[in-house]
Amino acid sequence: MAGAKKKKAVRKKRRSAPGTGQSSVRGAKGAIRSPDERMAIYPGSFDPITKGHVDIIRRACHVFSRVTVAVAYNPNKDAAMFSPEERVQMIYDSLPDLEGEVVADCFTGLLVDYARRIGAGVLVRGLRAVSDFEYEFQMTMMNRHLCPEVETVFLMAGEQHFYTSSRLVKEVATFGGDVTSFVPEQVLDLFHRRLARPRKR
Ligand code: PNS
Repeated sequence: MAGAKKKKAVRKKRRSAPGTGQSSVRGAKGAIRSPDERMAIYPGSFDPITKGHVDIIRRACHVFSRVTVAVAYNPNKDAAMFSPEERVQMIYDSLPDLEGEVVADCFTGLLVDYARRIGAGVLVRGLRAVSDFEYEFQMTMMNRHLCPEVETVFLMAGEQHFYTSSRLVKEVATFGGDVTSFVPEQVLDLFHRRLARPRKR
């Protein structure tokens, strides 16, 4: 119990500066740092995190020394089911064994600006099927144009996740379908509660 309390306190401290990457790079508040190719950002909406996302995060942790899972949000156009803070919390809850290896954060604005702010040299994206390619290709090229010093790296999700997406999971669950195979068990409860009582904006 005492251990759990301590863990919570550590997490709270780490999340004190959303969008600055301060939780992952001490003293980085707003500063532009030179990119570190061992430090990766895995960006996305994560609304909600799925087992497919968890699979990519675990793979990224094998390749990079520091992985920041970055929840993108737009305060002016927020149609998300979960608030950015809830999404960050769900990421931590889904990865209890990666405490200390993975940092979850949220940001608004351009991804490449966030990458510059925290000094990350790599953007990680997960690929499922060929259908992902065009969207990912466009995004990669735009990000490269905006910030040539940051490289995008693709990791293939495990085949059992090829048809998992947050959008589909929400749709299936909304109509009463079983999504336990697709959503980490630690976040299922919040997910079902949110379906019963949609978020107030
Ligand atoms: O989970 P998603 O929706 O596929 O993630 C898309 C995301 C969040 C990575 C992308 O929309 C993004 O980077 N948003 C931040 C704003 C930005 O930089 N847009 C230009 C991207 S080329």
